[in-house]
Amino acid sequence: MKISTKTKFILDKKLTKPLLDWIMNEDNRNKYITDEPEHDGYVVALDYLHIPQEELIKANFPYSELMSIGEIIRDKFELPEDTEIEPNYGYLTAYSEKGHSVHSHRDANFNVEGPDESLNEDLPDDYLGDVIHTRFNVLISKPIKGGNPVIIDTEYDVLENEVWGILAGIHHHHSTKVTMDKPRILLSFGYFIDKNFAINRGWYEE
Ligand SMILES: [Fe+2]
Repeated sequence: MKISTKTKFILDKKLTKPLLDWIMNEDNRNKYITDEPEHDGYVVALDYLHIPQEELIKANFPYSELMSIGEIIRDKFELPEDTEIEPNYGYLTAYSEKGHSVHSHRDANFNVEGPDESLNEDLPDDYLGDVIHTRFNVLISKPIKGGNPVIIDTEYDVLENEVWGILAGIHHHHSTKVTMDKPRILLSFGYFIDKNFAINRGWYEE
């Protein structure tokens, strides 16, 4: 499948409901989702979900559903088996409420803030080597208004549960402000995709 923003590739709600239920539980958010990214409004995030943590297993975090979704996305976009999960955030979830937006940014195409600091590299922000930081995202709860991705100045009105892809290490991106009471809940699956693979698939031109 072509990488794009309006894929019409909609995840089955049966698969996303356990994640939605877990994240909607305020106790879970207060106890386990503590990372606060530097963006406007109330937002909490939990990264490195591709590596199960003991305390989250005990808290019944629905890892099997998360991994199934990861597999479905890999299959759909035909990512090679050996595609590396990107080491800065990996698989993550972010929960945000009214007032939140993500500032315009690009993500690093190298390991700059992964938890194993011995692997962090000191390279220019816009460094591009053999791999492209690519993310496959889905809003399992989409605000009534706002929360859409904006990629290179174009806003995409994605559907709830519609997976979109973004070359996050190449294209500047942000999100529109969340309004009203329904939260924005993002699942994001990050990979370092081989640059030549992206070129061959027509996802990227040098
Ligand atoms: Fe990003």
